[in-house]
Amino acid sequence: MAQKKMIQDFSERKQKNEKITFVTAYDFPTAQFAETAGLDMILVGDSLGMCVYGYSGTIPVTMEQMIVHAEAVRRGAPRTFVIGDMPFMSYQSSVEKAVENAGRFLKEAGCDAIKLEGGQRVVPQIRAIVEAGIVVMGHIGLTPQSSGQLGGHRAQGRTAEAARQVVEDALAVQAAGAHLILLEAVPPEVGRFITRKLAIPALSIGAGLDCDGQLLIVSDLIGQFQAFTPKFVKKYANVAEIIIQAFREYVREVKEGAFPAEEHCYRMVEGEEEKFLELMAR
Ligand code: KIV
Repeated sequence: MAQKKMIQDFSERKQKNEKITFVTAYDFPTAQFAETAGLDMILVGDSLGMCVYGYSGTIPVTMEQMIVHAEAVRRGAPRTFVIGDMPFMSYQSSVEKAVENAGRFLKEAGCDAIKLEGGQRVVPQIRAIVEAGIVVMGHIGLTPQSSGQLGGHRAQGRTAEAARQVVEDALAVQAAGAHLILLEAVPPEVGRFITRKLAIPALSIGAGLDCDGQLLIVSDLIGQFQAFTPKFVKKYANVAEIIIQAFREYVREVKEGAFPAEEHCYRMVEGEEEKFLELMAR
């Protein structure tokens, strides 16, 4: 049986130049599949707002929703490194609130770490959460919770000056004590520069090949999310097609009387059918 993954394992991986594999999950069965497949880390992302609840973005997601899903993921993947994603307004308004909500992911859901979006502007929160003894993953580049300010879900750091700002954010997150950092939607040159510059592992979602590991959103990876496909996504399966096909076949068989077949039916105890009919005929 594989050992429970710890934060120290990932620092070692960076030193040895061994890639870290990372995926989102929102429920028990998917977490089980991820652990069985040998994924190193699972993010219970607030992307569940879109992927599970059908919202148009992540803004409406609450701490209560995150805790429920994080608990289920933890049960499904007891040995994988599970990270709870701080939803919008669970950390922005005060440092105290940030620490309290970060603590909930560990206390109520059994997560190993939390993730929060933002660079220099969330340094006080990162510092306080780390001081509370919690493992923190920063998240910079495209930060979906502030996509309104960024002009939509756009790649970041595409000019020299913008790239410099992303680097400053990365350095600020590391200096605040974060243990890991996620780089979203930045050019590979920026991903590579930051990965080499930082001592902490830098994970990529759309930040190129040279980061210390890769993250994909499970619903994109398996072809379940249909609304849009970001440039950095590779679909490894098309489960939407498989599920729709299964539903169609089920509908057809029910209508045709082909389901349930003999093997799907329970049998009465030998000799009881006659007795039953007799009983009902009285
Ligand atoms: O919620 C999430 O899945 C995320 C990714 C977009 C990085 O934060």
